[in-house]
Amino acid sequence: MNETTKLEFSEKYSADHAKYYFDKHENEFWRRLSNWRDHKVCAKALKIAGNPKSILDMPCGTGRFWDLLTEDSERTLWACDNSQDMIDAGLKFRPPEIAKRFQTFQGSAFELPVEDNLVENIFCIRLFHHIGESEDRLKILSEMARVSSDTVILSLWVDGNFKSWKRARSESKRKRKGYQNRFVIPRKVIEQEFEQAGFSIEARLDFAKHFALWRTYVLKKRA
Ligand SMILES: C[S@@+](CC[C@H](N)C(=O)[O-])C[C@H]1O[C@@H](n2cnc3c(N)ncnc32)[C@H](O)[C@@H]1O
Repeated sequence: MNETTKLEFSEKYSADHAKYYFDKHENEFWRRLSNWRDHKVCAKALKIAGNPKSILDMPCGTGRFWDLLTEDSERTLWACDNSQDMIDAGLKFRPPEIAKRFQTFQGSAFELPVEDNLVENIFCIRLFHHIGESEDRLKILSEMARVSSDTVILSLWVDGNFKSWKRARSESKRKRKGYQNRFVIPRKVIEQEFEQAGFSIEARLDFAKHFALWRTYVLKKRA
């Protein structure tokens, strides 16, 4: 049997961590600012993706983008996460009129328990900076190419900015290399992987050009 890949970082999203994750984005000043900017970038990405009529938010976490995704009242919405506790926190703490728009299910990005072409778009925010191995990223991308009929919106950490330079410098100074659960992926590498998985790049949207690590890509499935 083909065992689903399991990553160490995936195990930390317990009920307590879910509440912490929900609170930090809602309450801390800098997080709220970055959440606001993330929403702006994602709104632009959705527009470039052609305002998809059906979306799978994966991983949905605690539903940080559910307000944005429900702005289109005609849209069909799904939400999935590896952690049922994260989904439950979203369903519990988001406004009920927003949460009830989503059909939710627990599942791994490596093997989504849904049919081919379920949705027009997969909305994948803040997962890929946790995926250090190319082989794993390619597996997830190929699963996305199966489940999305048209586009993918995906954010990750890339090189070529001040923060990645600073991070590389402090990592090279560190003597002992411990467990790492967040990775900067060279732009050249990830863009080659998108290509390999059958996607073309429609847009590259930076959180703060030349400064921040976060970049959001809008990908389109090649015919
Ligand atoms: C940093 S959170 C991002 C959540 C949300 N997209 C956001 O931006 O707020 C990462 C999420 O990935 C989920 N996750 C971890 N491993 C996963 C996997 N293999 N498949 C699907 N989701 C996974 C975690 O449970 C967690 O909710």
